[in-house]
Amino acid sequence: MKTVIYYFSATGNSLYVARTLQAALEGAELRSIPEALAEGRFDAKADAVGFVFPLHYMGLPLQTEAFLERLAITGSPYIFAIATCGVPYTGTPFVDAEEILSRKGQQLDATWYLRLVSNYIPMRDIAADWRIKIRAWLAGRKLRNIAEAIRKRELHSTWQLLQSPCRRIHQEWKERRQRIDENFRCDTGRCTSCGLCQRVCPAENILRPDGHPVWQHRCTECLGCLHICPVEAIDYGDKTKGRKRYRHKDIAPKDLLHKHT
Ligand SMILES: Cc1cc2nc3c(=O)[nH]c(=O)nc-3n(C[C@H](O)[C@H](O)[C@H](O)COP(=O)(O)O)c2cc1C
Ligand code: SF4
Ligand code: SF4
Repeated sequence: MKTVIYYFSATGNSLYVARTLQAALEGAELRSIPEALAEGRFDAKADAVGFVFPLHYMGLPLQTEAFLERLAITGSPYIFAIATCGVPYTGTPFVDAEEILSRKGQQLDATWYLRLVSNYIPMRDIAADWRIKIRAWLAGRKLRNIAEAIRKRELHSTWQLLQSPCRRIHQEWKERRQRIDENFRCDTGRCTSCGLCQRVCPAENILRPDGHPVWQHRCTECLGCLHICPVEAIDYGDKTKGRKRYRHKDIAPKDLLHKHT
C-alpha cells in the first residue's frame, strides 16, 4: 500500500506534519513540491496521495496551486490534504484544490486544518512560547487521529468559512505578487553573506551579486528567507522590526533548503 505525501514548507510546520505522517504510515514517501516543480516530476502513482502545505492568504500557496495544476495522478487513489495554519477554518484551500483535481477526474477524499503557529509576522508577532507548546500538543493528538483516518481510508470534510471574502482577499494577493518582494530589506551591515536566504527560496527569487540578497520579483511570499536568516538581517519593510523569527522546533534549517540552489 504505497502512500506519497507532497509537501511545501517554509518554516517547518508543514514539513513536521508530513514527516509525522510518514512515520505513522508504513512505507510512505515524501516529495518536496518546489523540487518536483523544478525537476518537472509531475507523475503520481500510489494507493494514497497526500498534500501538506501552509495556508497562504486563506488559500493555497502559489507553488502548491501551480503543482496541483500540473500533477498527473494515475488511477483512483485515496487523496487527502492538510493545511497548516495559525487560524483554521477560514478560507478556501480545499475547495480550490478540489476544483483543480476534479478537472483531472480526481476527488479530495479527506481534508484537515492543523493549527500550529502563524509565521506571518508582517501582520503580528509569533505567538508566545506557552501558546506554541499547547498548540503543538493539540496538533500531535490530532495528527495521530489523522494518520489513523488515512490508514482506514476514511472520508473527512472540513469547514471552510467565509468563502467569498476569503477568495477575494486571496485573489487580490495573487494580483500583487510581482510587487510582494519590494517590501524586503537587507541590513547589509548585519548580513554575513551565509547564503541561507538564497538556498531556502523555493522560487529561485534571490541572487547575491555582492553576497547580500537581491530579490528578483518572482516571490511567492513564503517568508522562508526572512525567518531563516540567522542574524535577522532581513525585514519586511518596518513591519517585522523587533518581531521574533520562527522555525518549527523539530525541523533544522538544512531540512528547509532546496537542491536547485
Ligand atoms: C503569505 C502568508 C500568508 C498566510 N496566511 C495565513 C492565513 O490566511 N491564515 C492562517 O491561519 N495562517 C496564514 N499564514 C500562516 C501559515 O499558514 C502558517 O504559519 C503555516 O503553518 C506555515 O507553514 P510552514 O512552516 O510549513 O511554512 C500565512 C503565512 C504566509 C507566509
Ligand atoms: S541569510 Fe541573512 S546573513 Fe545569510 S546571506 Fe541571507 S541575509 Fe545575509
Ligand atoms: S524571496 Fe523569500 S519570501 Fe519570496 S519566495 Fe523566496 S524565500 Fe519565499
